Amino acid sequence: MPLINIGPAENFPVGKGVLVEVDGKRYAVFNTTGQYYAVDDICPHAGGHFSEGSITGTKAYCPLHNAEVDVRTGMCGPPCASDVETYDVSCDSTDLFLHVD
Ligand code: FES
Repeated sequence: MPLINIGPAENFPVGKGVLVEVDGKRYAVFNTTGQYYAVDDICPHAGGHFSEGSITGTKAYCPLHNAEVDVRTGMCGPPCASDVETYDVSCDSTDLFLHVD
């Protein structure tokens, strides 16, 4: 499983989604007070971008119709009919690394 350096941890502020693109695929990366999570950026309902929505605790919200996604599991609430993939994020002393398939 490749590890992709996605840059300094300081670029990922607490409580805000950040879009990361790797080989044309979009990921939404979240910092929940020092724990980092990544999910597919594209909402399965109608294509909203989770990286542009809000996050409270470990629940991020799609900016289009407010679907909730648990960034730990990828489980999505209504109006989504399916869930999203999650991806591990690790860090060294300065940078974050996205574990992609
Ligand atoms: S596009 Fe995300 S909830 Fe509708």
